[in-house]
Amino acid sequence: MLNIALPKGRLGDKVYDLFEKAGFECPSIRENNRKLIFENPDLGVRYFWVKPSDVAIYVERGAADLGVAGKDILLEYEPDVYELLDLKLGRCRMCVAGPADFRDDPSRTLRVATKFSHITEKYYHGIGRSIDRIHLNGSIELAPILGLSDVIVDIVETGTTLRENHLAVLETIVPISARLIANKASFQFLSGEIEKIRAGLKEQTEAEA
Ligand code: PRP
Repeated sequence: MLNIALPKGRLGDKVYDLFEKAGFECPSIRENNRKLIFENPDLGVRYFWVKPSDVAIYVERGAADLGVAGKDILLEYEPDVYELLDLKLGRCRMCVAGPADFRDDPSRTLRVATKFSHITEKYYHGIGRSIDRIHLNGSIELAPILGLSDVIVDIVETGTTLRENHLAVLETIVPISARLIANKASFQFLSGEIEKIRAGLKEQTEAEA
């Protein structure tokens, strides 16, 4: 049985649809919304729903052979897994955002609020800008409005959250989308099964592009 960790939520539903269209269906998954584990013994797949930011942990530690995680999570936590395929779902971008008229004053330390501390440190280190990083767990857009930070580093999908809060994208750091990831040992020992799924998903992803 191949264990597959899916990200719970809106993205997860789209991801499961893709697995289903690729021929790895598990009909019971659509019948119950409180259960967390579903399997199709005929196809040898077992799916389970986990918090999106936890998928990589399950895969890295081998509790799941495969999983689907956002590139944001992979860049932030750098889990020791293989990234097999860009599923082209959940597309968004990691951005620096702030008041539209914000001008950086290089003589001052820049205060940056974010949930993505590692990505933020790496980005500003890369451009040689010293920052005071403020780690928050959500509603990051509040920080510049209340004067807690000058700018934020966060995910922008439609841009609605920024607009509604009178903020704008100042820089795009990296595009983000959902990726198929594999446990390194599983990839070696279950290579045939994993390759079948990767190929099926790739075909489906290309058909939908
Ligand atoms: C994410 C992100 C933004 C929002 C962007 O938040 O942190 O707030 O989505 O989407 P948009 O550009 O389409 O408006 P999420 O919903 O994950 O909640 P959070 O604020 O608790 O992180």
